[in-house]
Amino acid sequence: MRSVAIIGIGITDFGLRPEGIVSLGVAACRAALVDSGVGPERVDAFFLGNFAGHAFTGQNHLAPMIAHAAGLGPVPCTRVEGACASGGLAMRQGVLAVASGAADFVLVGGAEKMTSVGTSKTAEILAAAGDWETEGVRGATFPALFALMARRHMHEFGTTREDLAGVAVKNHAHGALNPGAHFREEITVKEVLEARPVAGLLGLLDCSPISDGAAAVVLCPSEMAADLHAAPVGVLASAQASGPPTLSASRDITCLRATVRAAEEAFREAGLQPEDIDMAEVHDCFTIAEILALEDIGFYPRGEGGRAAREGKTALGGAMPVNTSGGLKAKGHPVGATGVAQICEIALQLRGEAGARQVPGAEIGLAHNLGGSGATCAVHILGMCT
Ligand code: COA
Repeated sequence: MRSVAIIGIGITDFGLRPEGIVSLGVAACRAALVDSGVGPERVDAFFLGNFAGHAFTGQNHLAPMIAHAAGLGPVPCTRVEGACASGGLAMRQGVLAVASGAADFVLVGGAEKMTSVGTSKTAEILAAAGDWETEGVRGATFPALFALMARRHMHEFGTTREDLAGVAVKNHAHGALNPGAHFREEITVKEVLEARPVAGLLGLLDCSPISDGAAAVVLCPSEMAADLHAAPVGVLASAQASGPPTLSASRDITCLRATVRAAEEAFREAGLQPEDIDMAEVHDCFTIAEILALEDIGFYPRGEGGRAAREGKTALGGAMPVNTSGGLKAKGHPVGATGVAQICEIALQLRGEAGARQVPGAEIGLAHNLGGSGATCAVHILGMCT
């Protein structure tokens, strides 16, 4: 297999956007192509992460539509769906296409437009990423499922409500430094604790928002990258795993097996350990989800992830900053775009172009993208091409 590099990144602002989903996708793709210096006519294949184009906007078959509008030729265009991990899965398909030799230049995009329908309808659409017959139909929305995980983590390990709030406070502080973030206001622990309840013990400020947005990257073989871009970023590992699709099928709802497995495979492929990672973007769809990810990836022992944010270890300036983009919590979570946006943030950091939120000397970064309540997970490890 050939090694793969990222030579272009592009991302729209996240939030409540006036454009339609095709325009959002095209904007991100064009930006990534411009950054790469590769013209659209040279792209050999396009993979698009998108969860629910039709349900949210009435539009399906988005991959060829976005590709056509972005000026691509008559190349294979494939939509990849894995709930909130759709973007991470599209990235992995792109990496495999280049690594296998099936394609030289691959464009990977992720796009979602979620604000066209109301909150109740959005919750219903998102709930279809869980098991509809056993959970969705009984009103177990994603905030409700993650609230159960939070309650259990608190029971098992003594994690506190303040620990959860620490994740939101940190990620909003990071989001305040990201001009493209959905939310750019700092918040306090008190505000998180006093926010209106959403499900169980999770309040408004424990939740990622309903966002629109798109992101894209251009991939090529590493051996070609140095001639095309001043700062190509290498894909050191691309791993994917699955886990139980429902909480009732999980032996332990404080540990997501898909994350454990995907992270183990990614570290093995890269020949690295958790302590080698300089910064990470993890899937904080709810505050508890960041804590679970820190433990399942192996950054913190079981039961000890809760204190990381509150003690400043995962903040900018801490031992290993997590979600410097603001994460899903503050940057926003247009679900199909999220996994690709995480890759963009890490590439930006490794290139030293992250501005006010730059992690000094960052050389290796990890992206963790989760689908459903743990049924699907993609983990990528990136490092500068040598
Ligand atoms: N964090 C912070 N502020 C938020 C927010 C969030 N997650 N969601 C909405 N707000 C703010 C809005 O900006 C708005 O502020 P304003 O009054 O200053 O304009 C206010 O809260 C009301 O917004 P509204 O859209 O009416 O809130 P809502 O009650 O309809 O939706 C949630 C709030 C939390 C229910 C919704 O964001 C949600 O469902 N989030 C989870 C999405 C999800 O499940 N994703 C998949 C994960 S697996």
